Amino acid sequence: MSISLTPFQQALISWFHREQRALPWRKEYIPYQIWISEIMLQQTQMERVTLFFNRWLQEFPDIHSLALASEDRVLKQWEGLGYYSRARNILKCARTIVSDHDGIIPSDPKSLLTLPGIGPYTAGAIASIAYNLTTPLVDANIGRLFARLFNIDIPLPQAQKLLWQKAEKLVPQDQARSFNQGLMELGALICTPKNPLCPECPLSPFCIAYRDDLILSRPIPQKGKTITTIEMATGVLSHPQDKGRLFIQQRLADDVWGSLWEFPGGRLKHSESPEQAVIREFLEETGFSVRVDKKITTTIHHYTRYKVILHCFLCSLDLLDSDESPDPILYAAQEYRWVFFPELANFAFPAGHRKLIEFMTGAENSP
Ligand code: ADE
Repeated sequence: MSISLTPFQQALISWFHREQRALPWRKEYIPYQIWISEIMLQQTQMERVTLFFNRWLQEFPDIHSLALASEDRVLKQWEGLGYYSRARNILKCARTIVSDHDGIIPSDPKSLLTLPGIGPYTAGAIASIAYNLTTPLVDANIGRLFARLFNIDIPLPQAQKLLWQKAEKLVPQDQARSFNQGLMELGALICTPKNPLCPECPLSPFCIAYRDDLILSRPIPQKGKTITTIEMATGVLSHPQDKGRLFIQQRLADDVWGSLWEFPGGRLKHSESPEQAVIREFLEETGFSVRVDKKITTTIHHYTRYKVILHCFLCSLDLLDSDESPDPILYAAQEYRWVFFPELANFAFPAGHRKLIEFMTGAENSP
C-alpha cells in the first residue's frame, strides 16, 4: 500500500519533478554514479563537479575499473577537486566493496557507514537517492532551508541533532529519492544563502521565517571563523647534468596531501626568509644542498580556514662535482623523479604547486 503524501511533501516533490537540473547522474540513478557524485559534491561547486564527473566516468566507468586502478591514477583524475583524502577513500572503498560485497554498493546505511569515507550524509544520500530507501538526509543546503522553515534560532553547527530529527520526520515512504534531492535542489536554487527567491518557493506557505519576516536572519551565523595565513616556500630544482629535467617527489601516504607530488619545500620558520626556508627544506627533505637562483612567482590558495602563500624559486644544486650523482635521501617523501617539464602534467600536485606549474607554462609560452 502506498502511503499518501502530506501537502508539504507533495509541494516539494512536484516542484522537484518540474524544476530539477538535468545532471549526468540523474538519468539512471546508478549507485556507483550517485556515490561518486555525492563525494565530489562535498566541498565542490556543481558546475565543476559535472565536468569532473564526466571525465571520471570515462576513466573509471564502474566500480571494478576503479578498484583495479593505481592510487596515482585516481589522484590524477581528482586533481583540481582538492581535499584529496576523498579520492584516497574512494579507492579504498571501491576495493572493499569489490572484495567484501561482490562489487555491489550496499543499500542500508549501517553497512554503508562501515566503508572508508562514508559518513552519515553520504550513507543517507546513497540509500535514499540511489536506492530510494526511506532515509533522512542533511547537508549544508538542507540545514539552511530547515533553519528558515522551522525558524531555528541557534547556529547550524549546534543544531545538527535537531536537523536530522526534522529530516527523519519529513522523509516520505517510497519517494525519498525525489524528496531528499528536492530539498537539496531547493536549497541550491531558491533558498540560497543571499537573496533567496521566496516568492518562487513551493514551501513558502509552510515557512515560519518567511511568515515572520526573518528569512535574512536565518540561519543564525556562526561567530568568529578566522582565517589563518600560512607562508610556505618551494623550489624548482633542475638536474645539474640535464637542465631540462626537474626534481619532484611524492609525499608520504598519510599526511594532508598524502601521495601527491610536489617540489620540495615547506613552511617558513619564525624570522626566516622564503629563500632561507627553501634551502633549509631541501636539505631536510632530500639531503640536497641548493642555492636559490631566482624568484619564479608567489601563489595564493585558500584551504579550509587557511590562506596559503607559496613563494616559488628556481634552484640549482650547490657545490656539486659534475660527475657526482644527484641522488637524494628522501626524508619526507616515498619516491622521486627527474622529469621533463611537459611530463609534470602526468602527476597530481596540490593546488599551490599546480598554480606554479601553470605560471611556468604561461611564462614558457609568452613571447
Ligand atoms: N548537493 C549535493 N548533492 C546534491 C544532489 N544530489 N542534488 C542537488 N544538490 C546536491
